[in-house]
Amino acid sequence: VGTLKEADLKGKRVFVRVDLNVPLDDNFNITDDTRIRAAVPTIKYLLGNGARVILSSHLGRPKGVTPKYSLKPLVPRLSELLGVSVVMANDCIGEEVEKLVAGLPEGGVLLLENVRFYKEEEKNDPEFAKKLASLADLYVNDAFGTAHRAHASTEGVAKYLKPSVAGFLMQKELDYLVGAVSNPKRPFAAIVGGSKVSSKIGVIESLLEKVNLLFLGGGMIFTFYKAQGLAVGKSLVEEDKLDLATSLLEKAKAKGVSLLLPTDVVVADKFAADADSKVVAASSIPDGWMGLDIGPDSIKSFSEALDSTQTIIWNGPMGVFEFDKFAAGTEAIARKLAELSGKGVTTIIGGGDSVAAVEKVGLADKMSHISTGGGASLELLEGKTLPGVLALNDA
Ligand code: 3PG
Repeated sequence: VGTLKEADLKGKRVFVRVDLNVPLDDNFNITDDTRIRAAVPTIKYLLGNGARVILSSHLGRPKGVTPKYSLKPLVPRLSELLGVSVVMANDCIGEEVEKLVAGLPEGGVLLLENVRFYKEEEKNDPEFAKKLASLADLYVNDAFGTAHRAHASTEGVAKYLKPSVAGFLMQKELDYLVGAVSNPKRPFAAIVGGSKVSSKIGVIESLLEKVNLLFLGGGMIFTFYKAQGLAVGKSLVEEDKLDLATSLLEKAKAKGVSLLLPTDVVVADKFAADADSKVVAASSIPDGWMGLDIGPDSIKSFSEALDSTQTIIWNGPMGVFEFDKFAAGTEAIARKLAELSGKGVTTIIGGGDSVAAVEKVGLADKMSHISTGGGASLELLEGKTLPGVLALNDA
């Protein structure tokens, strides 16, 4: 069996690793159900084909059994989206779970308790992986968001269950973040933002091998400005990355990639939602002020340059979009991508913060693809392989 579509599912017990690591508020209400919704197509397909579905996920980073990290609060939403009543287990291995699995009818769903309640999960302990595997006949990994972790439920279990195949979400994420990125319709542009260049070095270096245009935004630009000898006031700068910034600029030139830095910025007198702010040229950031967003001229020139592209990948916000005053750059880019998406341009949003920004402006459904992974999409964009994917038969 190569893929999920080829697997014989009727009456089979299927261990499905999903990433239901969703944010919950203090009253255990789900504040963003994107990951639950993203897990639905695979589960519905399994149910429609007569499988008995055993769902496994982590939530948060608990140390041992921690009630506040229970998956129980997810049951109502999951049941509603699937249209079946999901049965909740109090554990993820052991006799009680085995009984529940034995009683699970075709088309039934059992949700196992947080797999990280066992330290063996993150240690990728083979005995623990075997116990998980013993519950089922085959393995489907649809937890793209956790595929960069070599844990028992994401990697180890695949050794003991055959076939082990990717779910539809996993396949879609890989199609876009690997497929579309390595074989793009050109011109191909990347927009990389975020506060620190240190966390994006790998992504920038890898994308420089692939793109025609690279736009930089977010807090990281001040390290580039400073490396070019500009005054940056009290903007965020990583002093130990100045040489690196210079070498990235040189590399872009050598590769023939046109790298665009913002030409103007919105500066603030303090890091706060109610800070005083003004727009200045990138070359005239005043003493005592810090840049918190890209300026209107930059939005205009970025947008114009994006008009000629066919594929765009975006990772990281352009400014401190959590503060409305400094959200214009990020929101303008989100709107531009939505517009271009409507014209047939492939638009891929990879990674946590830029996804949140696109959701904030209500444009999530306009993009070609919005990744459900933070760390996982970053690692893919850096050109790394993911252990959770490598372990599968259809890797
Ligand atoms: C995520 O939220 O990025 C994934 O669920 C992985 O979680 P982790 O960083 O705790 O492994």
